[in-house]
Amino acid sequence: MKFSPFKRKKQDAPQTDGAYEIPSHIALIMDGNGRWAARRGLPRSAGHAAGAETFRRVATYCKEIGVRYLTVYAFSTENWKRPPDEVGAIMELLERYLKEATDKMERDRVKLKFFGDLSALSDGLRALIHDTEEISARFDGVQVNICVNYGGRDEIIRAARLWRERADDGAELTEESFGGFMYSAGIPDPDLVIRPGGEMRVSNFLLWQAAYSELYFTDTLWPDFTPRELDKAIKAYNSRERRFGGVL
Ligand code: FPP
Repeated sequence: MKFSPFKRKKQDAPQTDGAYEIPSHIALIMDGNGRWAARRGLPRSAGHAAGAETFRRVATYCKEIGVRYLTVYAFSTENWKRPPDEVGAIMELLERYLKEATDKMERDRVKLKFFGDLSALSDGLRALIHDTEEISARFDGVQVNICVNYGGRDEIIRAARLWRERADDGAELTEESFGGFMYSAGIPDPDLVIRPGGEMRVSNFLLWQAAYSELYFTDTLWPDFTPRELDKAIKAYNSRERRFGGVL
């Protein structure tokens, strides 16, 4: 799949003029919302609200350029340590996004999936998640996976428990059979993991799936991340040699 000018607004046009391969699966750590807000003297919740807007823009852009899967880290298993009002603000933003998304999903053909232990969420949010996943299951456009109360280690432990409970007697434990018990079952691994916000770590995100992903870090804070920044990341991705442990 190549860059296409299809439906792209002028200010979002890519800096690149060549033809680049679009990664089929992009994963994003949406970091830097708090600092973005602090620099403006705003509460952290305002940073998350701006981050949610950026997510909408970037997800739309991914759809336009032909990304098949977009996985975003919205709330980690460790984020419960944050002040209750900040946790509440993030949950509200998710709720708002889901309510909006259900209205537009049919038109956009976006398939929404949630990765994470949803049992800790409010009944209302869980019901919304259930409904949106169900309604959007039939859509074949971009698939957006939102990680909520998600941790990579937690996901691996959960898969191991499910394996113990559900795998057929005598079934062979392989990367493929075990992967079938991860939230990402049936979805290709991310080609590219992007972390804005200046930190260079993976923070318990997609530990299993990102084994061979290309990593891209930028100092830009997530609310300031633009489609043009995504183009830069895709360009950098195109300059990498992916060997998957082999030789070329
Ligand atoms: C990390 O930045 C960001 C989060 C923990 C929350 C991300 C949530 C959203 C963008 C909103 C909801 C999402 C959707 C999909 C509608 P940080 O707070 O750790 O930033 P800092 O490192 O600058 O403090």
